[in-house]
Amino acid sequence: MTDEEPGETIPKLDSIEFWYVNVKISILRAALELHVWDKIAEGTTNVKHMASEEKWDPVGTTVLLDALCGMGLLDKNSKGYCLTPLSDFYLVRTRSTYMGDVRMAQLTWEHQGRLADAIRKGKRPIVKKWTDSEMGGVWAGHSIPFRLFPNHYMEYYETLWQTLGFEKTQTMKVLDVACGPAAETLCLALQNPSSKITLQDWPKVVEEGARIADKFGVGPQVSYVPGDWELVDFGRDYDVVVMGSIAHFYGPDGVAKLFSKAREALRLGGTVIVSGPLPDESRCREEFPLVSAVWVYATSEEGAMYTFSEYKEFLESAQFENVELLEYKGNKYIRARSPQ
Ligand SMILES: C[S@@+](CC[C@H](N)C(=O)[O-])C[C@H]1O[C@@H](n2cnc3c(N)ncnc32)[C@H](O)[C@@H]1O
Repeated sequence: MTDEEPGETIPKLDSIEFWYVNVKISILRAALELHVWDKIAEGTTNVKHMASEEKWDPVGTTVLLDALCGMGLLDKNSKGYCLTPLSDFYLVRTRSTYMGDVRMAQLTWEHQGRLADAIRKGKRPIVKKWTDSEMGGVWAGHSIPFRLFPNHYMEYYETLWQTLGFEKTQTMKVLDVACGPAAETLCLALQNPSSKITLQDWPKVVEEGARIADKFGVGPQVSYVPGDWELVDFGRDYDVVVMGSIAHFYGPDGVAKLFSKAREALRLGGTVIVSGPLPDESRCREEFPLVSAVWVYATSEEGAMYTFSEYKEFLESAQFENVELLEYKGNKYIRARSPQ
């Protein structure tokens, strides 16, 4: 058999994966860059008017808007183009539910094809370090779905804290570092009225956290430490410090600093919880953590998706003990104790 006659077992090349998805991504990116949904929301529904007002190519503008119709992100009526419920809600900049900046940051993470070049030269981050303060607004956008659908997350995390080894009625003082939407810790606040939660993240993210806390009616249980985790004072005597999907943005020195700071904030015998995508030990099997590792490579200076064994080593070097791997609904949580 020659190379030209591969036999019966020809692996199928999925043209949707290889071509179509990429075209749709570029369409979305162009539309986000041009803010076409804003123009329609402002009343420019005729494609010729839009193209002439903005000095855009009328043919290009038409194919773009038509494609967005096909993708369910625009529609047409007697006046021309109109928004769909989805684009009206998430893609118009004046809405508090606008997620365009988040999507744009996700779509431009490797600056239109510079990943190979970065790997060649080891130049990273490619565009921006996602742990820099200027990314606070983008991260705050990630909290919007949680603000909109809090009950979904409440149900999802209903038995998380029992799985992590805590009683429902246990009085707990908890610090959530780089909290994001703080889904897990705000669920705890709701389930356990004697718990006190401190949310730490960039100011805009913490503001979203406060809105979500108020929505749940747990505002009085929650306090806030806005700013860079490296610079702020965490406070002291926490029973639990949670660090979800933050350590992987840092190299060994950064992780050591983060874990030491967490240990100093804990009471003696307190618990640290580290969560996030964990690759299998051979870094070969599970797609999500391995794909995410490339994103972390491109968006940080020294970060990496660490395995459980690597985290265990980091935690033990920071003087944590009893490092264990737990699982909740397929998500991995590492639990360790500070010395008594
Ligand atoms: C991947 S999200 C994780 C959110 C949440 N902990 C979770 O597990 O879902 C990373 C979070 O880290 C925050 N972050 C990034 N760099 C930070 C820094 N230097 N100081 C404080 N927070 C930071 C971001 O704003 C974002 O909310």
